[in-house]
Amino acid sequence: MNDSLKTIEDLFTPSTESVAGLIEEFQNEIRRGLNEDNSSIAMHPSYVSRPTGREAGEFVALDVGGSNVRATVVELAGDGMVRVRRHAAFRLSRIDGEAADLFDPIAEFIGGVLEEGRSYDLGFTFAFPTDQAAVNQGRLTKWTKEFAFRGVEGNDVAALLTQSIARKAETVTALQSVSVTALANDTVGVLATGAYSDARCDLGLIVGTGTNMAVAVDRRLVGRSLPPTVGNPDEMLFNMECGNFDGVRSIQTPYDRTLDTESDSEGQLLEKMVSGRYLGEIVRLVVTGLGSDGNGFSDWSGPNSVFRLPYGFTTEHLSDIAYDESDELAGTGMLLKRLGVGTSEPDERRLFKKICQLVAGRSARMVAMSIAATTTYIDPRLESQHVIAVDGSLFRGYPGYQLEAQAGLQEMLGNSSIEQAQVSYVRDGSGIGAAIIAAVAGAGFP
Ligand code: GLC
Repeated sequence: MNDSLKTIEDLFTPSTESVAGLIEEFQNEIRRGLNEDNSSIAMHPSYVSRPTGREAGEFVALDVGGSNVRATVVELAGDGMVRVRRHAAFRLSRIDGEAADLFDPIAEFIGGVLEEGRSYDLGFTFAFPTDQAAVNQGRLTKWTKEFAFRGVEGNDVAALLTQSIARKAETVTALQSVSVTALANDTVGVLATGAYSDARCDLGLIVGTGTNMAVAVDRRLVGRSLPPTVGNPDEMLFNMECGNFDGVRSIQTPYDRTLDTESDSEGQLLEKMVSGRYLGEIVRLVVTGLGSDGNGFSDWSGPNSVFRLPYGFTTEHLSDIAYDESDELAGTGMLLKRLGVGTSEPDERRLFKKICQLVAGRSARMVAMSIAATTTYIDPRLESQHVIAVDGSLFRGYPGYQLEAQAGLQEMLGNSSIEQAQVSYVRDGSGIGAAIIAAVAGAGFP
């Protein structure tokens, strides 16, 4: 069993040199993306700049993320302060179907949050890659995170939402005066939320069901001509879509390759190593792979076991295991029973926990790699301070994740520079950011 542990450890712990190589390749891809050359980091312009913090008013924010839809009525106080007036959430019951199966229930749900007889500007955060033509228009380039609604790829998602709102407004009168005034990726929303209260914030990061970053770029660094930015004309926020970074092919394990081959989402190689949608599945593939080689976990794939089913073992289970710090891992044993593994030996459970830690640890280290590469792209000698606003269930909820990401940053940036890149968690940043962007879009730049 020790031999298998050593092999797994080596596979999931890329050397410091190979991580340095990834940082370099990540930066090359950012450069190519900004110049509109073929790149696995698309750098989609969002046509908006950071807010000043002085934007004010009441807005509706709609956040369509990995698994939850949230609607929030937000009051921006104009001094960097945000007040949440109303908030509601629901879980999507499906991730495929027709476009109307996605947008009609969302429109109806928004109607339930709004007051009758008022008009609202709505900011829409959509946590998928869109090719934007303006601050309130964007075509979905491809579904990610295993979503598969038909008739959405290639179409303007703000228009699809507007059509569903119009359909539902016939019966839900509160929807009659809602207009979709801004569309943004969730990472752009997080960045806007961070920057609303702290002008040093120039990066937004999501580590949840999916993973991705947004960055504020001085327009002089952009090698292609783009229409004007709403807000500050000298900068542009870019949705990087760096979950699609394919430089990590060089550190893929056989398990990553199997996961990729069996996935419905094309590409997204970095995301498949990092995000909550996939970590449980990687662990499952390791466990079943070792089991079939006779290296432990021999009886873990019995008829009732979740380890038989793709995606049966989830990242939430991984979190539960990380919380179990007992010597014999009795809590893990109980969880395994519930997951259909009749008996497990303490040694097997220890190896299992170690695998979970290695998979989660690599994820945090790859997040640190993405932050290190992006901050040093926009500021090679780290002369200014950068705040990285972060949101997402994995970053928030996985025990020890934030510390591991921080340790990774220390490894990559060094002790002398680490103070220049501060990671700051912002709760509901993506949703609130939609309201802030709607405000920037409405107010312009003073
Ligand atoms: C996926 C999506 C991206 C989103 C991220 C986090 O990577 O493609 O648009 O920002 O998930 O939700």
